[in-house]
Amino acid sequence: MNKKFSVLINNKIKKFSKTISIESDKSISHRALLIASQCIGPSILKNILESEDIKNTIVCLKKLGVKILKKNKAYIVYGNGLGSLQQPKNNRLYVGNSGSLARMICGLLSTNPNLKIKIFGDKSMNKRDMFRVIEPLQKIGCFFYPVGKTTLPLTIESTNMPLAQHHNEIIGSAQIKTAILLASLNVPGITTIEQKKISRDHTENIFSIVKAGIKIKKLKKGNLVSLRGQKNLSNFDLKIPGDPSSAAPFIALTLLTPGSKLLIKNINSNPTRLGFVNIIKKMNARVKLINVKRINSEKIGDILIKSSNLKSIKCSSSIVPFAIDEFILCFLLAAKAKGVSIFKGLGELNKKESPRLNVINKILNQIGIKTKLNKKIGSIKIYGNPNISLNKFYKIETYYDHRICMAALVMALSFGGKIKIKDCDSIATSFPKFLTIIKKIGGKYEIKK
Ligand code: S3P
Repeated sequence: MNKKFSVLINNKIKKFSKTISIESDKSISHRALLIASQCIGPSILKNILESEDIKNTIVCLKKLGVKILKKNKAYIVYGNGLGSLQQPKNNRLYVGNSGSLARMICGLLSTNPNLKIKIFGDKSMNKRDMFRVIEPLQKIGCFFYPVGKTTLPLTIESTNMPLAQHHNEIIGSAQIKTAILLASLNVPGITTIEQKKISRDHTENIFSIVKAGIKIKKLKKGNLVSLRGQKNLSNFDLKIPGDPSSAAPFIALTLLTPGSKLLIKNINSNPTRLGFVNIIKKMNARVKLINVKRINSEKIGDILIKSSNLKSIKCSSSIVPFAIDEFILCFLLAAKAKGVSIFKGLGELNKKESPRLNVINKILNQIGIKTKLNKKIGSIKIYGNPNISLNKFYKIETYYDHRICMAALVMALSFGGKIKIKDCDSIATSFPKFLTIIKKIGGKYEIKK
């Protein structure tokens, strides 16, 4: 656990023109490690994100008997094939602050024979919904205890006789889809998932690299993913690109800082992750994706951003899964845009590391931005003020949510005032070098222990 600290910002950032690189994609890092553990032979994973969430994934896999070594900056995962995970010595696994890890590892464990493991996380993780994976995984045949409990800590007991099932995924959650897909790797027969809303598809992409029996069929609405289980998986090499969700705070900061320009290199440009870029383009942002190439079944490119005069947006719910981790930044941009913005279908936002929709609404009101929040349907109206300039002292509560912290930092560096942002140690869960890069582009801050 990192030591707690707050960040104090007392100056707007001055205009900048820089080229930066961002840390690696968290979603792909989790998946590459988990899937490599199921392959036969060593997989070489370059540029794995070394954040707290990913370190927890590595520790969990090691406790399950997977040998993982770091050599010349690459992680080598020695997979022993499907169903080879061992009962951990103390019968427990710690998932820290990571909902992705908690849900995905349950999928992996559920069909690996002879396991009974207690899964627990930090205080905030223990408030997050696990029913979304308990339900499909129980249908496959595993058990969760205490029966009826839907949050961590939970004990999962795997099944030795898993069943191929048809699953409907209606939320648009890549975590749920991945949990089912990881479980299905070790299920005889064909498992199908009908995705009503398309979500990020990194699991499917790595599955095609390792030659899992995966097929994807487009439907009128969404798609049908099918997987033939119990097929040996080939080991693989993968270099992980930069995380578009980590690039997003820097994109927002550039847009909000007059006269600025930023080039962000080697970002994962998978279309299922570009919701934020598409939303801000509609808000008049000067943003361009350049040098896009396909490497290892993912698209990778550079993003060029120039400060922009933003206009309001009516954002429909269909784009939500493609920008789920970036909405807090969209709201911040809407606060500075000309006109009234509306964002719809955001109920899922309140199920993240903190109830993000409520938290950001409170922060916007704190700095004098008028909003109308409808908690029932998960929508928010934001009355933009292009002339916003703060001059008072504000203390921002972040509820140990890394994305709230990063957005609050962007706000403080671009809206002015004297702003103290609490619990910024949470940023290390996804992006340990965030503050260093802020400094590199000229942002000034003080760390308060
Ligand atoms: C993630 C999917 C998203 C996202 C999370 C990472 C993933 O969650 O919010 O930060 O790696 O699959 P949902 O798929 O549950 O919306």
